[in-house]
Amino acid sequence: MTVPVLVAVGGPWEAPLVAGLDRAAGDLAVVRRCADLADLVAAAEAGLARAAVVASDLHRLDLDAVARLLGAGVAVVGLADPADQGAAARLDRFGVGRVLPADAPVTDVAAALLAAVAALPDDAASVAARAGARRGRGTGPGRGPDPGADVAALPPPAGPAVPGPAPVSRHLSDPADALAPLPRLPVVVAGAADLPSRPGGGTGAVVAVWGPTGAPGRTTLAVGLAAETAALGRPTIVADADTYGPSIAQVLALLDESAGLAAAVRAAAQGVLDPQRLARLAPVVCPHLRVLTGLARTARWPELRPSGLDAVWRTCRDVADWTFVDCGFALETDEELTFDTAAPRRNGATLSALAAADVVVAVGSADPVGLQRLVRGLQDLADVRGPGAAPPLVVVNRVRAAAVGPRPEQRVRDAVARYAGVHGVHLVPDDRPALDEALLAGRTLVEAAPASPARQALAGLAAALGAVAPSMSA
Ligand SMILES: Nc1ncnc2c1ncn2[C@@H]1O[C@H](COP(=O)(O)OP(=O)(O)O)[C@@H](O)[C@H]1O
Ligand SMILES: [Mg+2]
Repeated sequence: MTVPVLVAVGGPWEAPLVAGLDRAAGDLAVVRRCADLADLVAAAEAGLARAAVVASDLHRLDLDAVARLLGAGVAVVGLADPADQGAAARLDRFGVGRVLPADAPVTDVAAALLAAVAALPDDAASVAARAGARRGRGTGPGRGPDPGADVAALPPPAGPAVPGPAPVSRHLSDPADALAPLPRLPVVVAGAADLPSRPGGGTGAVVAVWGPTGAPGRTTLAVGLAAETAALGRPTIVADADTYGPSIAQVLALLDESAGLAAAVRAAAQGVLDPQRLARLAPVVCPHLRVLTGLARTARWPELRPSGLDAVWRTCRDVADWTFVDCGFALETDEELTFDTAAPRRNGATLSALAAADVVVAVGSADPVGLQRLVRGLQDLADVRGPGAAPPLVVVNRVRAAAVGPRPEQRVRDAVARYAGVHGVHLVPDDRPALDEALLAGRTLVEAAPASPARQALAGLAAALGAVAPSMSA
């Protein structure tokens, strides 16, 4: 069968390439020479082709664009301008699996195209067909503009320099200021000094901390667990991926406007995220603990694009032994939107963290409403993660007799076993004094209340995590 190919290569390389591919004896047929990225993505999403050749200097080519092509079932081969030293590496970071020099013989390009098509996942053809059908039936009620316009709407690449975290500072205009603790000064602002020397090794674990709506303690657990692994001397990152109520910066008295996680996503989209860059965006707040702060304004949630986040989690594995991701509560995947793999989704950040995580910690609140939400939430979580996913580590937080009656530990264990079928749930006691003290000081429990019952429970939970991901606990 002849493979239809899109070509988005300009300059002197284009004409010989197109002629050569067409001569490649019936295996390949160039169906379109694309004028620009918008043209290329629109043609791919219209189901016109199974493969594309893109040049490294294609204007606005980035991680998202390549994800869209692959999502449309189109294999991508990159041609790197030999005069541009970083071109091949950049294409690679964008997710272009096969990269050749732009002056490579056309037969090599043809071979790479056929290999790339052969390596497409099995369902890619159906993705392409679906994409075609979707375009065919129009954009549907409430859907976005036409595909070309979609691409035009991609946010322009940020300036060449990805902004680092602003100096840690208080905002006098912030109404919370009167309550805010003294700002924390980063121990080390930046630097590769304490980076493990294994870039690309990527052996660190990613832990997604999720819980249903109702503030069950996702942030408390993400920060608390991160403080525990850091206290054990393990390089650790805690990242705020909550697109509804980010709070880690506040909890740790890092009142800055520079959303570290969003900056990392931007860097990933430009193909310039590496361990050093990530480390610069994640200030060290206490020994071994780095923080990727969340959105300063939740209206900016589209900045946390899943394709970029996937790259961020991968890079986190190079920088830290443990990365804890504080997730939002919502898991819904709007069906119409899931067809369009590139449409921004507010829950995409959480879904990306859940998909990347080696371990998911699911936290619920120890009161009748919180427990019911947890039971339902565990089902939703299982649906989202699909069959075969490792079971989450289930934690019930704020355990207290006042909310569930005498012998609250036993009651909570019984309820979770009976209604969710989960045995071996982990419990964290309600410990208002310790949490208040930590919040007031803008410090972790390890720093502010090391002997408190809540901290002891978190230390036990961190040990349990080490047992689930044993390679990390060594
Ligand atoms: N074990 C606990 N004991 C007492 N208060 C807690 C405990 N865990 C969390 N809290 C408090 O509950 C509130 C919500 O917790 P948070 O971690 O911000 O929830 P989420 O991130 O799920 O919205 C915070 O004020 C926090 O200090
Ligand atoms: Mg939170």
